[in-house]
Order: sequence, then structure tokens, then C-alpha cells
Amino acid sequence: MSLEVRLYPDPVLRERAKPIEKINDEIRMLADAMIVTLVHAIGYGLAAPQVGVSKRLIVVDVNNKFYVLVNPEILTFSEEKQMGPEGCLSIPGPEADVERSQKIAVRALNLDGEEVYIEAEGMLARAFQHEVDHLNGILFIDHLGRAKRQLVLREFEKHLKEESEEAVS
Ligand code: NI
Repeated sequence: MSLEVRLYPDPVLRERAKPIEKINDEIRMLADAMIVTLVHAIGYGLAAPQVGVSKRLIVVDVNNKFYVLVNPEILTFSEEKQMGPEGCLSIPGPEADVERSQKIAVRALNLDGEEVYIEAEGMLARAFQHEVDHLNGILFIDHLGRAKRQLVLREFEKHLKEESEEAVS
């Protein structure tokens, strides 16, 4: 079943999510539901706060591979940067170019409680940086200049309005 995605400016999106101390059935079911939600929404990634759960869990779908990471931690950020478009399921509609590190190394737990270490670059590195930001209450619009951020938020409001009009007609 698909979960409801919380939209900006829902306060849960600004909380610092709590570490997961025990990977139990509740966490595994949450991860499954987040994957269903992500696939349904056609996104690259989803963090638990986006479905109203302030816990450190992310799912990423890049290069035809699903990553489910518990308590992810980015260990290293390359000095080399990449610039590319990002959007967010919590701010549907607009996209904007965001600067990220080209390469990162991530450490996390998988759903079996085993430690995993991933070296990622390009799109995958971008997705991990975006989703780990969510766990710290940071949104992609926070990486934009003021003018660009206002433009993105206006586009988002327009998108919401169009969607609600479509729902009525
Ligand atoms: Ni997002």
C-alpha cells in the first residue's frame, strides 16, 4: 500500500530524524511501504520523514537497483562537484539545479542489521545526498539562492493548485 507523502511545509520535514535502534518487523514493513510509495510516485528516493516517520531510514531507486539504508551516514564527500536537476516528492512540480559532491562513501545498516559500505558517484551519489539531507531536516531548496528558491516554491504552489483543480473537474 502506498503511503501519504508529506508536502512542504509540513514540520516533520524539518525535524532531525532519530536513529533506528532495532530493526524489527515494524521497520521492515515501513521500508516495504516506502518502496511501494516510491515506485508509485516515480521518484529516485524517499526518506522516512517524508511519510511522517521521523526515523533514519531511506530508500533509493537508481540504476535499476533499490537501496534500503538504515541510519545512513555519509563518510566522505569528494571535492569534485556535480551540478544537476533535482526535484522532491515533498515539493512536487518544480526542479532546480543543485550542486552536490560527485562522489561519496556511505555507511549504513541493511534490513538484516548488517553493516554496508557503498561508494557512489553521479546520480546515485546525488540521490544519497538528497535523502540523507531529509534525515537532517534539510530540503533541496535550502541549497538554492533566495531568488531561485522563491521561484521553485511559486512553481510548487502552482502545481498544487492545478492538481486540486483537476481533482474537482
Ligand atoms: Ni526529497
